[in-house]
Amino acid sequence: MDEQTIDQPDDEENGTAVAVERVLQLLEQGSLEIEGLMPDSSNYTFLVRVADDQLSGLAIYKPRRGERPLWDFPRGTLCQREAAAYQLSASLGWEIVPPTVLREGPEYGIGSVQLFINADPQEHYFTLRGSYDEAFKRIAAFDIIANNADRKGGHILKDPQERIWGIDHGITFHVEPKLRTVIWEYAGEPIPAPLVEDIARIGHQLEQPDDPLTVSLSRLLSRVEVDALRRRVERVQRRARYPEPTGGRSMPWPPI
Ligand SMILES: Nc1ncnc2c1ncn2[C@@H]1O[C@H](COP(=O)(O)OP(=O)(O)O)[C@@H](O)[C@H]1O
Ligand SMILES: [Mg+2]
Repeated sequence: MDEQTIDQPDDEENGTAVAVERVLQLLEQGSLEIEGLMPDSSNYTFLVRVADDQLSGLAIYKPRRGERPLWDFPRGTLCQREAAAYQLSASLGWEIVPPTVLREGPEYGIGSVQLFINADPQEHYFTLRGSYDEAFKRIAAFDIIANNADRKGGHILKDPQERIWGIDHGITFHVEPKLRTVIWEYAGEPIPAPLVEDIARIGHQLEQPDDPLTVSLSRLLSRVEVDALRRRVERVQRRARYPEPTGGRSMPWPPI
């Protein structure tokens, strides 16, 4: 994985390729230091520096204690959903969600820690659509499966290598249908066959209680949420088509 946000002290060049396993190790075990609070966040979202003996980089720390309570999601579970979204994205092989772990953080305790993407702040879904169809078709399929209730335009980032990422997956994996997204341009179209194959593969994994994906998701989500995920995966695989919006609640507000 090419991570422009990880620096190696002995390397003059910023942007050395660091394997994803190594990034995860850094996020899990590195020391964390708070650099500041992110603007435009509805929950307490901190920019942190994460470092170990060899590597240093930036990450986004969202502590459970900083989560704003919501009427429809169980309290204190948003950080777990952030980590579960990463597990799902990684298992699909789609690399939508930046590497994310759940761990103890400085001052505010347990939370999600996600690799910071050095994105162009001028870009978001509405400036990028039309040019990155393949990436957006993956993200749209991911959001159906994850039951993403908050895919705003600003939750799409483009890094300097022109890779498209999705962030802010705190309100996902609800048991009831809650898909709310700005990406409706594929409504009614077939989901590309290679994506359906990936979906079928994880469907099979989720049927095995001792599969690593099932085990890790069961630590982060409730049993009924993992069951609901399995049912969504089955349904998406069977229909193999992007759904149509169901009304006003299908669009997040504000859209960016
Ligand atoms: N992984 C990331 N890389 C870069 N910027 C991020 C990342 N995650 C969040 N941000 C920035 O922090 C802001 C707030 O984060 P977000 O996940 O939207 O928090 P909230 O749950 O409060 O809505 C985002 O709008 C974005 O600018
Ligand atoms: Mg947000």
